[in-house]
Amino acid sequence: MPNSWSYIPEAPAAAEQARRTMPAVPPAPALPSAPSPAPAQRPPVAAPEFPVRRPVRTLADLIVPGPVGERLRNALRQVQYHDVLFQQWNLRRIDPHRAGVALNLYGPPGTGKTMAAEALAAHLGKGFIDVNYAEIESRYVGDTPKNIVRCFEAAEKAGAVLVFNEADSILGSRLSSVTQSADHSVNLTRSVMLNQLDAFTGVVVFTTNFAANYDSAFVRRILAHVHFDLPDRETLARLWATLLPDELPRADDVDADVLAAASTGLAGGDLVNVIVAAAARAVERTGASRRVTADDLFAELVTVRAAQAAVGRPSARQELLVEQVEVPTD
Ligand SMILES: Nc1ncnc2c1ncn2[C@@H]1O[C@H](COP(=O)(O)OP(=O)(O)O)[C@@H](O)[C@H]1O
Ligand SMILES: [Mg+2]
Repeated sequence: MPNSWSYIPEAPAAAEQARRTMPAVPPAPALPSAPSPAPAQRPPVAAPEFPVRRPVRTLADLIVPGPVGERLRNALRQVQYHDVLFQQWNLRRIDPHRAGVALNLYGPPGTGKTMAAEALAAHLGKGFIDVNYAEIESRYVGDTPKNIVRCFEAAEKAGAVLVFNEADSILGSRLSSVTQSADHSVNLTRSVMLNQLDAFTGVVVFTTNFAANYDSAFVRRILAHVHFDLPDRETLARLWATLLPDELPRADDVDADVLAAASTGLAGGDLVNVIVAAAARAVERTGASRRVTADDLFAELVTVRAAQAAVGRPSARQELLVEQVEVPTD
């Protein structure tokens, strides 16, 4: 395992904590004798940092149907056996420009794409750099190309897997109708991304909630597109069985199969939310009832579905209409 990780587990939480607890800065009092302020200047924007994180989740933690797992494993083999495949077996004759490997994981939110990227890094014994692509694009207008270069540099230097989350805008071809002035910077961003991808010798993982309309330039460079669908009944049962921690006290009526039957249309990320909320219901109770019951979980399942229906996630809305949540009676 490389020892070059600059992983600081507390850092993001500490920063978040600091942001939450920091008192608002009062406006500076006007000084009558102060020189007139400089003409409107852009406030300095801190460049995003790209820390290398150590994966804690592995492929064994990822609950996906067999074919999805096999696609991921085959993509990994192309990384692990790159030298044999491209040098010894001379695949470079038919594919001379493939230096690194880019994967695209696509599908609905909460289906485990980001987690899979982390697990891929774990499998390769590498750290990973998690970049919210949408954020570097929107928050650092004009600096996007520079930041793209920076994160590739950071990943190359650390030998880390580079993960671009919410990468739909860069992968999409729906940018052709932007206005002329925006056009230039969009094209620059795209060509920088393509150049970096071509030069990068490591592994890049894009994750996106949208599958449609990929730009052909990116499609050509992406080794494998892996679809993360909403879990089927069997996968849901495995998710329920795996996600409930052994340490979580639970009543005998908590049953993975029954929960799975009531969770159609939900993703693993939704189940995580249900479990956390159900545990929060239980934690204040005392004595023997201080444990999560099926009722706690079903109540939170209903809440999660209703919230999703309200914010318009179609699958959830549909399920709300067609699926009766079966609350077992004891
Ligand atoms: N297929 C899965 N297997 C195991 N856990 C999952 C899966 N999908 C989601 N989860 C759980 O939900 C959380 C959120 O998933 P995430 O990877 O962020 O989804 P996405 O990136 O697709 O939106 C994960 O951290 C994990 O705890
Ligand atoms: Mg994600």
